Amino acid sequence: MQSFTYLSPTEVVFGKGTQKQTAAYVRKYGGTRILLVYGGGSILRSGLLGQVRQNLEKAGLPCQEFGGAMPNPTLEHAREGIRLALDFSADFILGIGGGSAIDTAKAIAIGSANPQTDIWDFWCHKEEVSRALPTGAILTIPAAGSETSNSSVLTNTATGSKRGLSTDFNRPRFAIMNPELTYTLPIYQVACGVTDIMMHTLDRYFNPVDNELTDAIAEALLRTVIAKGRTAIQNPHDYDAMSELMWAGSLSHNGLTGLGGPGDFAVHQLGHELSAMFGTAHGASLSTVWGSWAMAVCPAKPARFARYAQNVWGLENEDENALALAGIQATVAYFSELGMPVSFGTNPDIGIQTDGTLRDLAYRCSFEKSRTIGTFRILDEENIYEIYRAANQ
Ligand code: NZQ
Ligand code: ZN
Repeated sequence: MQSFTYLSPTEVVFGKGTQKQTAAYVRKYGGTRILLVYGGGSILRSGLLGQVRQNLEKAGLPCQEFGGAMPNPTLEHAREGIRLALDFSADFILGIGGGSAIDTAKAIAIGSANPQTDIWDFWCHKEEVSRALPTGAILTIPAAGSETSNSSVLTNTATGSKRGLSTDFNRPRFAIMNPELTYTLPIYQVACGVTDIMMHTLDRYFNPVDNELTDAIAEALLRTVIAKGRTAIQNPHDYDAMSELMWAGSLSHNGLTGLGGPGDFAVHQLGHELSAMFGTAHGASLSTVWGSWAMAVCPAKPARFARYAQNVWGLENEDENALALAGIQATVAYFSELGMPVSFGTNPDIGIQTDGTLRDLAYRCSFEKSRTIGTFRILDEENIYEIYRAANQ
């Protein structure tokens, strides 16, 4: 086991009706003037925004709304939110929704505590975060895990780059998780979420270090998400399935399923370029490239993929390579079953691309040839290009 630190301080408030406790938790963590950050309007239509606002105002907590965070939220929108937070003298930022709203809330919390610094400098690691306003989250989609994670992902539309910032200042103080709040989700978003939850663990599980307990936790999480994902797609009002997915979404991205190993996260890096260029949903960007990535890296350690096939998919084969391949095929077939794209050609946002575009994607993903990605197998710009090429069908 490699050395690690593990910090997961977010207070999780889980279960039916928990949004009614919002004011109590905001107060507990010092909030007196609250900026409510949300997305494109699903929480207006469901009535959640009205409920939360009423709950806060009844407790004497003034609030200001800031909607409009789009899937793959933008830097420009976050900057607008920072201006509003400063004008309103907000001292607590509450994200209501999924990763896009919660990540925007985190960005506003960092930006309004550091008004002299342009936040993109933090996201580009030119500046280090040393303070942020406290944030909280009310989750409406099991997916990104932002409600307990240390990261926030923004897209700079001016440069076409999507970047994540990981810092413990990004960890929300509390996360309210009521599985019933997910019932209004479109099936496609449920599927995107299931994919992302799996991927947060897969991107940790496939790393060069074997750790028995961590690996067993990862495998149990994956088995659960695969089974409950199937149920949720059939019946998005299944409370048990949505509960398991919601909790798995948080555990999958708070660090637990990768402790003691270096993590890999190549698929996330490959996917971010696809979202930045084509605007495809985060979960879809990942399923689009996972199969091609897996085929490219499997020869580095087929035993790991064979163990995955056995312990996650229940497959058997005495031939290690055949077993490894069967595990990859089962994963890709599962994404297809969920209705997720598994290549450029099956992703309606992307489609088959020219060789020039594939080269451009690889160049961008390697940060203009200045980095490699991954740890299971380290991938340079040429390797990245080969993976995009294999996915271009
Ligand atoms: O915007 P609204 O109208 O709320 O609609 C959203 C959006 O269209 C909708 N939705 C969410 N909850 C709903 C609902 N519709 C009906 N009923 C509900 N209960 O679903 C759509 C997707 O929402 P979004 O917040 O974009 O989804 P997700 O949670 O998948 O977040 C994706 C973003 O998070 C980033 C991704 O890159 C992407 O930008 N990630 C953040 C991470 C983190 N902070 O730790 C890690 C992830 O790897 C990921 O990169
Ligand atoms: Zn993700």
